[in-house]
Amino acid sequence: MNRAPAASTAPPTRDSGGQGETGPAGDRPVPDGEYGGRTILLVGLMGAGKSTVGRRLAMRLGRPFLDADTEIEKAAGQTIPEIFEQFGEAHFRAGERRVIARLLSVDAQVLATGGGAFMDAETRATAAERAITIWLKADLDTLVKRCARRNERPLLQQGDPRETLAGLMEKRHPFYAEADLTVESTGESHDVVVDKIISALNASYGPNSDRTS
Ligand code: S3P
Repeated sequence: MNRAPAASTAPPTRDSGGQGETGPAGDRPVPDGEYGGRTILLVGLMGAGKSTVGRRLAMRLGRPFLDADTEIEKAAGQTIPEIFEQFGEAHFRAGERRVIARLLSVDAQVLATGGGAFMDAETRATAAERAITIWLKADLDTLVKRCARRNERPLLQQGDPRETLAGLMEKRHPFYAEADLTVESTGESHDVVVDKIISALNASYGPNSDRTS
């Protein structure tokens, strides 16, 4: 196993509820290297907030943040729309699977994935073995609103985005439901979602939980 060194000396970067203070334990991130040193993997539909929430969560946990879509683009030397256009979706999915497998070989990170990544059985199996997977679950209105802000997503280029997203919800939700934890990200600020993730992680994987890595 290619365990990343746990940066256990880094203090939690949370701005409230510092160590030693009283308050609900679920409010505070546990020190680095906790959660079994497992990478936190964020899954969910386009527009669920995976990248923004993931970046903020990583800062709070003092962990490196990686975005699988960005890493795919780096590896290919092309943007995702270019990959879809030149080589098609199947080629993109094969690259996505390879890149995520590589990223999951390093522990103690926060990793945001593209909305389709968790449909892949191999990726789900690797995630089950190496990561704590969190489904960021948002309602259709929220997804439509957020997706309208960035319009280069290949799957939303044709047809009505609301209809496409509704179809993807139906198809993908049963797979996302295999995640270890589900956190609602509907109508809440990204920082509130980060708080909820940390509470959920501490409840299930923190030092006082009965669930271990
Ligand atoms: C996709 C989601 C995108 C990106 C690609 C395909 C999908 O990522 O990976 O356009 O299949 O849902 P985001 O979920 O970050 O938008």
